[in-house]
Amino acid sequence: MTVYRRKFYVFNQGRPVPALIRNYEQRDFPDLIRIQQECFPPPFLSELWWNTKQLHNHVTLFPEGALCIEINGEIMGSMTGVLVDFDPKHPDHTWEDITDSGYISNHNPNGKTLYVVDISVRPSYRKLGLGQWLMLAMYDVVVYRRLDRLLGGGRIPGYHKKAKEMTPEQYLEAVIKGELKDPVLSFLLRCGRIPIGIVNNYLEDTESSNYGALMEWKNPFHTRILK
Ligand SMILES: CC(C)(COP(=O)(O)OP(=O)(O)OC[C@H]1O[C@@H](n2cnc3c(N)ncnc32)[C@H](O)[C@@H]1OP(=O)(O)O)[C@@H](O)C(=O)NCCC(=O)NCCS
Repeated sequence: MTVYRRKFYVFNQGRPVPALIRNYEQRDFPDLIRIQQECFPPPFLSELWWNTKQLHNHVTLFPEGALCIEINGEIMGSMTGVLVDFDPKHPDHTWEDITDSGYISNHNPNGKTLYVVDISVRPSYRKLGLGQWLMLAMYDVVVYRRLDRLLGGGRIPGYHKKAKEMTPEQYLEAVIKGELKDPVLSFLLRCGRIPIGIVNNYLEDTESSNYGALMEWKNPFHTRILK
């Protein structure tokens, strides 16, 4: 396994604080489970929080896709991926299917798409750029492994407030135009992800009315066949 380790500084109220992105391991499981509980409060279903078996699969099946971020030595967030074969012509899927409900036993070492199983940052450490740093680290994995893309279904937790007025497609359009802001969708756009479309029944998630916005980031390096 190739290990990821990036030391840098993030700015908290104008002051640099030491940060580290690294692969998470078994000893981190209790912290990761606690962070998920903080990150996905009700109405999000507690059954969807990480359990030890899922985390064990992440660190054994695809350890390069299991990343966490530490601030001053304490884990503040994590991001997890799985390799899949994705056919852009048939983009419809559910989170359960494509991640095997977070167990990633469908992980395909030859898959060319790195699918995001989860990204979460502790509420008290949000808006410091930690989520974006985790995303950039996962782009590094895509480039390093010469994959085609990073892909994921973003939650649209602000949608339930607008569901009576607009379709999820119109909501996505309004967020892209900058007329509306969504806590997850706007974040993913800022991270360089491009929306591909809306997926119905993506995840049991009241706030998003069970919709997800499928968003990709393509590996900018291509192989050109020279004639
Ligand atoms: C989505 C999530 C991971 C983002 O994490 P984060 O660490 O807050 O992300 P960032 O700090 O990189 O970006 C968040 C916002 O803070 C802003 N920000 C970043 N650094 C900042 C700074 N120094 N000062 C002010 N704002 C800042 C970003 O511009 C971004 O704004 P935007 O939402 O308008 O794009 C986090 O909100 C989360 O865990 N949510 C709950 C779990 C969830 O829904 N996950 C997504 C599943 S699909």
